[in-house]
Formats: sequence, structure tokens, C-alpha cells
Amino acid sequence: MWLGDTIDQMRCLLVILGLVALARAQGPAGWASLISARADANELRLAGLRTRIDAIADKLSGVGSGVSTDSLAARVRRLTGNGCRDKEFQCGGDAPQCVSNLAVCDNTPDCRNGADEGAVCNVPITQGSSWVGVAYWSSCNSVGTSNVRVIINRVSRSSFFSAFTQMDVTVIHEQNGQYVMENTTGWYGYGARRVFVQPTGGRHIGLSCDFDGVNMRRCEGRLVSDSGATCADIVMARR
Ligand SMILES: *[C@@H]1O[C@H](CO)[C@@H](O)[C@H](O)[C@H]1NC(C)=O
Repeated sequence: MWLGDTIDQMRCLLVILGLVALARAQGPAGWASLISARADANELRLAGLRTRIDAIADKLSGVGSGVSTDSLAARVRRLTGNGCRDKEFQCGGDAPQCVSNLAVCDNTPDCRNGADEGAVCNVPITQGSSWVGVAYWSSCNSVGTSNVRVIINRVSRSSFFSAFTQMDVTVIHEQNGQYVMENTTGWYGYGARRVFVQPTGGRHIGLSCDFDGVNMRRCEGRLVSDSGATCADIVMARR
């Protein structure tokens, strides 16, 4: 956890140092340009949010302050990329190779090392499992936090579209202090290790959550509006 935090803190520090240097170099006129630094202030806020999300995530998944080095490595990979394009799976190992997400878990090895038909095919979302999460709203007419619970009622694998597992879920979410329960559907994509839950509720908000491939009892993602805009950051953990 603290590697991610340190990176965020360093970014904050660099932003602050940059602003101070800018103001020094340009004198009073320099302050005018600080107004255009609003984006940096936003960045600081996001960095703070990130830290809080990490803390909550660790609490939810019961790992305390100790996070495995594999999870740290996965987080660094997410920051730096894994060498593959969007919608591609990194086979990993000694000879990195990218294959399409659609080729993952289709019963045909595409990676030279077979990684696309290996552990990645274990679905973290199992029938009957229950997931709790905290959403940090920053948009879609909401700010602040809310609680979300997702219960997996049924999981099924389509034979003709094997790169995904479909699921029927019950979503319980907090709305104006009240809990609202709704049934909807979703899927898990093996290659991206991503869960997507179809939009529910009057506001039509969907959930997208990514697993790091190491700790499969927790995912991080966002709540999205119909137009695909991010409404909230969310972290979920298996109960
Ligand atoms: C949602 O699905 C569950 C499990 O299939 C079912 O027991 C429940 O009655 C459903 N609720 C609603 C509101 O449809």
C-alpha cells in the first residue's frame, strides 16, 4: 500500500514545489498563473482520495497494513502499464507476450507459456458470494461516500462467448440514507479481470471493478453513468 501512497505523496510534493518555484520565479505576476493550476489542486485532492481508498480497501479485505509484494507489483504495473494495449492480456513470464482478451480462457492456449488458459480462468466471483464496497462520489450530482453490497445469485458461462462469465446479482445501495435493493445482471471478463454490473436504479448507475490478479478478494473501480462518465471511485471486498 505504501508504495502507491509514496508515489502519490511524491507527486503532491512535486506539484507543491513546482508551484512555489513558479511563484518565486515570476514574482507577483506569477500568482496569476497559479489560477491555471486548479487542475493541480484537483490532482492533490485525487491523491488524497486515493490514499483514503487504499486505507479502506485494506480494512475491508482484512489485510491490515501489510500488503503482499505481489499486490504491490500489480499496483505498480497498473501505474506503469504492462506493455500491452487496452483489451489485451499480458501473458507474463520470461518472454512477455500480448494476446487479445477474447482469447483468454477460450480453451485454446494462445500464450506460448499457456498463461491465458491458466490461473487467470479462476473466477473470483462465485455463486452465493457477497461483496461490500464503499463508493466515493465526486460527480453525477453527488459528493461524499455511500455503501454498496453486491450479492451474486447465479453465475453461468456461455459456451459461445467463453471470455466472459455472466451473472445475476442483487445490488443493495445507499440512496439518501435509505437502502435500495435491485436485481440486475453483470459479467466478469477473464482477460481484463474486470467485473461489470449493469446500470440499476433511477439514476442508472453501473459498476466496473478491476481485480489485480493477486488478491482476488478485492477489486477497485468506479461507478459509471449511462454516458460512461465516472460518478464515483469504489473499492469492493469479498465478505
Ligand atoms: C432478486 O433475486 C433474488 C434471487 O434470485 C430473489 O430471491 C428476489 O426475490 C429478487 N428480488 C426482486 C426485487 O426481484
